[in-house]
Amino acid sequence: MYNKNKILITGGAGYIGSHIVELLIKNNKKVFIFDNLITGYKKLINKKAKFIRGDIKNLSKLSKTIKENNINSVIHLAAYLNINESEKYKKKYYKNNVGGTLNLVKACRGTNVKNIVFSSSCSIYGNTKGSVDERKKPNPKSYYAFTKYKSEEIIKKYSKKYNFRYGILRYFNVAGASKSGKIGEIEKSHGHLIKNLAIQSTKLNPKVNIFGNNYNTRDGTCIRDYIHVSDLAEIHILALKKISNNKKSLILNCGYGKGYSVKEIVDIFLKIKKNVVIRYQKKRRNDIAHIYANITKLKKILKWKPKYNNIYLILKSAIKWEKKINKKFLNV
Ligand SMILES: NC(=O)c1ccc[n+]([C@@H]2O[C@H](COP(=O)([O-])OP(=O)(O)OC[C@H]3O[C@@H](n4cnc5c(N)ncnc54)[C@H](O)[C@@H]3O)[C@@H](O)[C@H]2O)c1
Repeated sequence: MYNKNKILITGGAGYIGSHIVELLIKNNKKVFIFDNLITGYKKLINKKAKFIRGDIKNLSKLSKTIKENNINSVIHLAAYLNINESEKYKKKYYKNNVGGTLNLVKACRGTNVKNIVFSSSCSIYGNTKGSVDERKKPNPKSYYAFTKYKSEEIIKKYSKKYNFRYGILRYFNVAGASKSGKIGEIEKSHGHLIKNLAIQSTKLNPKVNIFGNNYNTRDGTCIRDYIHVSDLAEIHILALKKISNNKKSLILNCGYGKGYSVKEIVDIFLKIKKNVVIRYQKKRRNDIAHIYANITKLKKILKWKPKYNNIYLILKSAIKWEKKINKKFLNV
């Protein structure tokens, strides 16, 4: 049962993982973080969780951790996620994201782990014409998306073999920071729009790059669905409860069901920050033009209601966090 859960979070020292940990601890759960800190940070590690520094590529350490701590549920976030880098270093991405997921399911074999929640991505859908539901056949474009798709397949296949339930959560674009003020996105390398705007908000001469302005969208820039990280964290708690109590697996889109273009987000930013130089750049390889979530299933199954569904406030919360971690550059 969910209530007795001892929960292992791979990637729990990262951006999204730390928000899930914060919420689980608030719900009095026993939490174990397994992270190699490659893009995770000590600062994001919750003091009430047990931290194990380890790599999911290391099967024996993963197995030992799960057995020794009598883990019942796993939330698996550990992955590399830079789309551009994934095209260049395919092997590295395959080994970490796909090989790591395979190790994880193997490490759960014959243990008490009965539930695995996996952080997948809307990028597995590939090109769509806007709203997409969970029945759409995956058609990953980038190599990163391919590794997420392969990981989903591994989890589905082994869930029957090793007798665990899964909750596959396909995140859309995650942004914002916890209102506790203690955690937020630190890593800069992932190339996320709202993180980049937050970084620019702390600069004297802010510059914003927009990749592509001739997509077949309402203003020529890419359209995405942005979800606040705290709302996303709550979905994990509800999904884990659901698969644990119902003993049934599920796949859910995680977004708000509304698309904003890059230009629309940048326009909101321009109301907050003055003197911003906008530079239009070439399209990024394998970027999807237009995607947002159909969340009918998410709302129906989990009875989830968003609490932070306001793009202006999401941007503001990312900026507030950035100011906190960059005090010396502060000039807003
Ligand atoms: N941020 C988004 O918008 C978004 C969208 C879709 C899916 N996701 C998925 O969400 C998950 C978390 O992403 P995030 O935004 O929090 O990024 P993040 O980089 O902050 O978190 C990833 C964490 O995994 C850890 N990690 C990576 N490889 C590892 C390994 N081999 N062993 C142990 N730990 C390892 C990193 O140190 C880091 O703490 C990822 O799986 C990502 O693919 C994120």
